[in-house]
Amino acid sequence: MNSTTDTFTNRPTSAADYVAIFRRRKWVIISLPVMAAVITYILSATQSPVYQSSAAVSIDPATFSLPNVPYDPTTYIATQARVAHSTELARRVAKRIPGETPGEFLANSSAEPQTGTYILQLKASADTPDRARRLADAYAREFQLYKAPGKQSASKAPILDPAGAGAKIRPRPKRNAILGGLLGLVLGVGLAFLAEALDRRVQSEDEIERALAVPLLGRLRRPDRALETANRLVMVAAPSSPSAEAFRKLRTSVEFVNFDQHARTIMVTSAGPREGKSTTVANLAIAFARVGRRVALVDLDLRWPSLQSLFRVRGADGITDVVIGRVSLDDALQPVALPAPAPAAAEDGANGRAFTTGASVRSNGRTDAEGMLHLLPCGTIPPAADEFLERSRVAGVIDQLSSRFDLVLIDAPPLLAVGDAMTLTTKVDAVVVVTPVGIDRHHLHELARQLQTARAEILGFVLTGVTHADSSYGYGYDPQAFPAERRERV
Ligand SMILES: Nc1ncnc2c1ncn2[C@@H]1O[C@H](COP(=O)(O)OP(=O)(O)OP(=O)(O)O)[C@@H](O)[C@H]1O
Ligand SMILES: [Mg+2]
Repeated sequence: MNSTTDTFTNRPTSAADYVAIFRRRKWVIISLPVMAAVITYILSATQSPVYQSSAAVSIDPATFSLPNVPYDPTTYIATQARVAHSTELARRVAKRIPGETPGEFLANSSAEPQTGTYILQLKASADTPDRARRLADAYAREFQLYKAPGKQSASKAPILDPAGAGAKIRPRPKRNAILGGLLGLVLGVGLAFLAEALDRRVQSEDEIERALAVPLLGRLRRPDRALETANRLVMVAAPSSPSAEAFRKLRTSVEFVNFDQHARTIMVTSAGPREGKSTTVANLAIAFARVGRRVALVDLDLRWPSLQSLFRVRGADGITDVVIGRVSLDDALQPVALPAPAPAAAEDGANGRAFTTGASVRSNGRTDAEGMLHLLPCGTIPPAADEFLERSRVAGVIDQLSSRFDLVLIDAPPLLAVGDAMTLTTKVDAVVVVTPVGIDRHHLHELARQLQTARAEILGFVLTGVTHADSSYGYGYDPQAFPAERRERV
């Protein structure tokens, strides 16, 4: 395994990482520019309009018959522009236009030399087009007079373009909205990357793969809400759906990685509670049973056993009762006949025929169903689950099962919450780790550390809560994938 700093990093490195970030944070990246554009549009559209008019005057030195002293044209033009924008000139213009003050005029006017010429553009703005024109006109005339007082003024600083009606220069809501939108986009992208850097949830399956140093065996979506509510398994209720296909793929992957190890007892665990362990192991058991494997499915989550409710087995004896010698293994094992998969069209409801369990299954196990498995429920919940699992009889029962079945799949409690799962790893051949999308980086770290010390072979990990099951890069994080109570029980 790499060093900790290398392994636990969320720094994007490839184009695919960036694409994944943009997909995950699309709402910030889209909504911020849209909001900024709309707000700037509304704000600028409600501003009172400003109109500008301009007049062009010539400041050709020849017309002023300047003494033949050497001068620098740039300095000359700058001086003329400064003169045009002087307090004195402003005072003279303001005198001509009722309601105008010199200060106001200075603030709303400008004298801009036209590059490469001896021409000044004198501009003035006001709240109506006509007032703007009058101001610009007075501006040009007063400049003429100022430059060459008396009758000769018109020819000394001729007005080349007289002031026309003012054109609207403000507000420009469309331009402002575009600028606001661009600013919002920069902000949105910045915020997205900041959020990404602060986010402790692991967003890439590569990061999990690097941390756990085991292969990815499958990507599983969250079960449909209808299935979840009815507490039904997709391998039974909708065996030809893409989700069921994902479990068949998972079965193939497990067979593949287990090809050399020949592990017969495999437990499924995860870092925390409510991450999909029981659902995964139950569907996986059915996937194996459907291809003719003799499968025993054992519930060893002694704190929150859930397999009997998934398989509709009530009040049954289980492994705890076998361990304390209250019942025999044969009596506790519940044969579960799996209904044959119906054609895809009939998949809704009708196909989800209830399991046939217990006595109603014929002794050879082959009813009209395609395949069957044996469920060993949890049984009577013992007061001290961890001490109970330490008992050597637990290992004895697991061994007995492994000699009678092709495969023994064990539903285990979470690894980080209690010590039970760690104890169990000493009693099985191999472990499959369930890892939810968006797992907390610290939990992942802890999980990797615990798994390193586990004696059993770690076959690989299964991603749950995936939204784009077949995406080859990253994955979509679905914050709704796991109910909130998951964290409460950690
Ligand atoms: N692949 C999956 N992706 C997302 N959610 C899932 C997935 N499988 C199951 N879930 C949902 O997660 C919740 C917990 O499922 P499940 O009981 O299988 O988890 P668990 O890890 O066994 O929990 P516990 O720690 O209580 O034993 C359920 O609401 C279930 O529908
Ligand atoms: Mg469970």
